[in-house]
Amino acid sequence: MQKILFSRAVGAITVSAGLLMLSACQSRHNDPAPELVAKGQAISEQFVATLQPTLQAAMQTGGPVNAIQVCAVEAPRIAADLSASSGWTVNRVSLRARNQRSAVPDSWEAEVLADFDRRQLAGEPVGQLNTAEIVGDEFRYMQAQAAGALCLTCHGADISADVQAALDQHYPQDMATGYLAGQIRGAISVRTALD
Ligand code: HEC
Repeated sequence: MQKILFSRAVGAITVSAGLLMLSACQSRHNDPAPELVAKGQAISEQFVATLQPTLQAAMQTGGPVNAIQVCAVEAPRIAADLSASSGWTVNRVSLRARNQRSAVPDSWEAEVLADFDRRQLAGEPVGQLNTAEIVGDEFRYMQAQAAGALCLTCHGADISADVQAALDQHYPQDMATGYLAGQIRGAISVRTALD
């Protein structure tokens, strides 16, 4: 009898400690400083605003095969430049990564991407699909990116033979085709260490 009471008490203590920890985490997670959120958002927007015209110009001058070559060089370069100028780490990730070196999400990013998919299915517009959170000693921010009509040339279900050949050459382990218009292609992911 005593033994049972004891184990019940231990159980109750464990549960309440767990709840305490959970609520501590939640209050931290939900409370990043607005300046950090605004900066994360600004860096993500800058990434898109820099890459998009580069991609469009490359498509117009040399077609999609040329644009793949440009993208392969320019996308990582833009991410590196932005990381250097902001002091934050800037990257793009996807649950179906094309660039297996840079775009495979870590566990936090994978959870956020899965959550973006759920939120989109529940009707949230893609522009609003972002997450800002303090994770350990870092502030992290992600903004979803949907596949629009232009994107489907290289990420869609109906890829031309020359584009497919160029993708096979540069990205033999490509997982980033077969998307439908409007689906979430991936996200910009930025992070910075907290003082
Ligand atoms: C000309 C072909 C092409 C078009 C058009 C294109 N992409 Fe990509 N995309 C690529 C290539 C190539 C990469 C890999 C770049 C790298 O190596 O970092 C890539 C990578 C990405 C990534 C990074 C994650 C990953 O899987 O590597 C995202 C996110 C992405 N594209 C979204 C888009 C969106 C959104 C559009 C439309 C606005 C778009 N892409 C249009 C070729 C293209």
